[in-house]
Amino acid sequence: MPLPIPLPVPLPSGAELLAWYDRHRRTLPFRRSDGGRPDPYRVWLSEVMLQQTTVAAVGPRFERFLARFPDIAALAAAPEAAVMEEWAGLGYYARARNLHACAKAVTAMGGFPRTAGALRDLPGIGAYTAAAVAAIAFDEPVVPADGNVERVVARLLAEETPLPAAKPRLAAAAGGFMADAAARARPGDFAQALFDLGATICTPRTPACALCPWRGECLAQRRGIQAELPRKSPKRARPLRHGAHFLLTDAEGRVLLRRRPPRGLLGGMLELPGTEWRAAPWGEAEALAHAPVPGPAWRRVPGVARHGFTHFELEMVLYAAALPRLEPPEGMEMRPLAEAGAALPTVMRRLLELAAVRA
Ligand code: ADE
Repeated sequence: MPLPIPLPVPLPSGAELLAWYDRHRRTLPFRRSDGGRPDPYRVWLSEVMLQQTTVAAVGPRFERFLARFPDIAALAAAPEAAVMEEWAGLGYYARARNLHACAKAVTAMGGFPRTAGALRDLPGIGAYTAAAVAAIAFDEPVVPADGNVERVVARLLAEETPLPAAKPRLAAAAGGFMADAAARARPGDFAQALFDLGATICTPRTPACALCPWRGECLAQRRGIQAELPRKSPKRARPLRHGAHFLLTDAEGRVLLRRRPPRGLLGGMLELPGTEWRAAPWGEAEALAHAPVPGPAWRRVPGVARHGFTHFELEMVLYAAALPRLEPPEGMEMRPLAEAGAALPTVMRRLLELAAVRA
């Protein structure tokens, strides 16, 4: 955990933010509203889901996940493929693999460790998630610095250093809040108050400063530069890659699927069989040489499907064919289309949309 560093300006009062939170806290599916102790399993699960996915998208998926894996022992005991499929559509699938590995480790330890330092040793738990779980589930006096918190703190301090270079400085500055007695008395609520302030008032483009409990105490607002902060270093353009995929259905409306290798991008997820994803577009003859089975009359589906990954943009073409009956080749399986749609990652659903098949 970053240590609090001495700051050039005092941070505003924790009591003011907590009073605002007590009146305006959001009701969220993963948040207890009865004032009871949060369950570490639910806190950890929600924080992992929220790492790269919006609060709105997480809500229904959180409930569904809990219905299927109600506690950490149930998650640890589940086959990895079931966890991966439950994660379908949430993206960043390494999170699901790590979630499963973490559940096994925590079950073997007899429960979650209660400090950010010890939580960090678990699979898939970085500095942010460790601090969030420690603060929210165990009231350890630490401040998790996600994008919301970074933005709030950058504005309070009028930090001009662009992200991502400013991250360590902003995280350390956020930690400085734990010197405030009110914040220190309620670390879990304080963290969630910062999240809510960033999500509802101190928003990226047009912050609602008139409604902010810290109005008048924010250096960026005083200087009129709040909407410009945090500054960001320009992103490098993502390269474009190309792939060709195959949609093969049988008379019973089942579709041919292949499981990706366990490690790497989309590791362990299902996909429509296809080519590798490379810089050059695939010509038709070249693409068809990668067809999963010989024989059927492949028809190029007009148009392309696109999907953005963190490090590249993918453009895919699709070939479709139907066979009355099909024995899946080694390493592949046939699944009813509706079930396949739910189990496929978003990138593959883009292909189903292109083919306009309802799944
Ligand atoms: N974003 C990440 N974690 C959150 C939480 N616990 N509450 C609200 N927003 C969040």
